[in-house]
Amino acid sequence: MALENGKDPGITIRMAHYRPLPLRLLQFCLVFLALGIGVSMVSMYTIRYLKVPNVGITSRSNVIFPCIEERDSLESWIRPPSNLWHKMNDTELFWRASAVHLRKQYPFKRVPKIAFMFLAKGPLPLAPLWEKFFEGHEGLYSIYVHSLPGYVPDFPSASVFYRRNIPSQKVEWGMMSMCDAERRLLANALLDVSNEWFILVSESCIPLQNFSVIYHYISKSRYSFMGAFDELGPYGRGRYNPNMQPEVTLEQWRKGSQWFEVNRWLAVYIVQDTIYYPKFRDFCQPACYVDEHYFPTMLSIQLPKLLANRTLTWADWSRGGAHPATFGKNDITEDFFSLNIYKLDLTEQLPRHIPHSVETSSITVAKGSLKSHGADKGHESYDRNRASYKKSVPSYHKPVS
Ligand SMILES: *[C@@H]1O[C@H](CO)[C@@H](O)[C@H](O)[C@H]1NC(C)=O
Ligand SMILES: *[C@@H]1O[C@H](CO)[C@@H](O)[C@H](O)[C@H]1NC(C)=O
Ligand SMILES: *[C@@H]1O[C@H](CO)[C@@H](O)[C@H](O)[C@H]1NC(C)=O
Repeated sequence: MALENGKDPGITIRMAHYRPLPLRLLQFCLVFLALGIGVSMVSMYTIRYLKVPNVGITSRSNVIFPCIEERDSLESWIRPPSNLWHKMNDTELFWRASAVHLRKQYPFKRVPKIAFMFLAKGPLPLAPLWEKFFEGHEGLYSIYVHSLPGYVPDFPSASVFYRRNIPSQKVEWGMMSMCDAERRLLANALLDVSNEWFILVSESCIPLQNFSVIYHYISKSRYSFMGAFDELGPYGRGRYNPNMQPEVTLEQWRKGSQWFEVNRWLAVYIVQDTIYYPKFRDFCQPACYVDEHYFPTMLSIQLPKLLANRTLTWADWSRGGAHPATFGKNDITEDFFSLNIYKLDLTEQLPRHIPHSVETSSITVAKGSLKSHGADKGHESYDRNRASYKKSVPSYHKPVS
């Protein structure tokens, strides 16, 4: 997907290609309808069996109770929502999702899960591959899909993607609505208290390592894998707008890949933010691409010690030009995996890294740099985009403002 240098010259092509998205009202209406029916049935039940005298007041409180379900049992707090369709708007959802249990010991056996969050236009063409990837690891992952409103997924009930779409909204490429969608994914995933790690991928990502390796790697790392680096030049510091002061200074400005992995604490932090959000919404618009700056900058200011400063996804810029390499079916050979990707790693001095995911189809290759043993020393702040940038553009220190 969209990254870095490629964005500047390629806006029109990319816009036509990937975004914008239309609306998704029908399903909302259906949910309301279903809820309405549910509520009236419960009301009728209550009136009939409990013989509640004041119908007006009871039916009103029933509007609240059916959603909460046995509020007094622990079970209702720890069970993941049975249905991802809810009627909360973003304000309500983010508020709810940013609630934190400060007590460290859980009064139940909590198996931490990885939430895989798919930010997609519509269909997931690589779903069969992901199905294989998840097979046999039930209970260790959960899936959330944000696709264009109006897109109706048709996964069979046996699929891991069945009913995993969240209430979604229009996304415009390079705009704040992109970050809104990412925050919406995080917030929905936060509602399941067992989700401990959150991975954002696109429909064109594929995993390069099996589930066990990825789970082990992520769960053993002290860091969250958010790309964050200080790039001098027009595509880095050049996108900074001094109106962001005092919340964000030029020295604090960071850039990184849109695709990330964060732990629960960082996810909450991203969802609760109201300080940085307006600054980025108002002062980072194309040719400033907010999805490459908002989270990396905010987290580098607030929680820098928790970041590995590199992402687990990777796009191949080595072929040159404004866009990362597109991989077709002729590219996908054993050699491609064993030579090409490993060789790239070695060339760029990342011998300890094992690739984890490749983006294919028509967009890019993305790869996680997973090490075989979870112990992450986290000293690399390498970023491929930076390297490719260095090759193609002469040093440029003064920001455009
Ligand atoms: C969500 O609903 C609340 C209550 O009606 C309202 O105050 C808030 O502005 C709404 N938020 C959005 C994003 O529409
Ligand atoms: C996952 O991959 C690792 C490393 O390639 C391998 O050692 C392990 O056996 C694999 N696990 C499964 C369940 O296939
Ligand atoms: C990531 O960068 C921040 C500064 O932005 C630094 O404090 C932190 O130690 C870096 N993380 C690693 C793993 O080096």
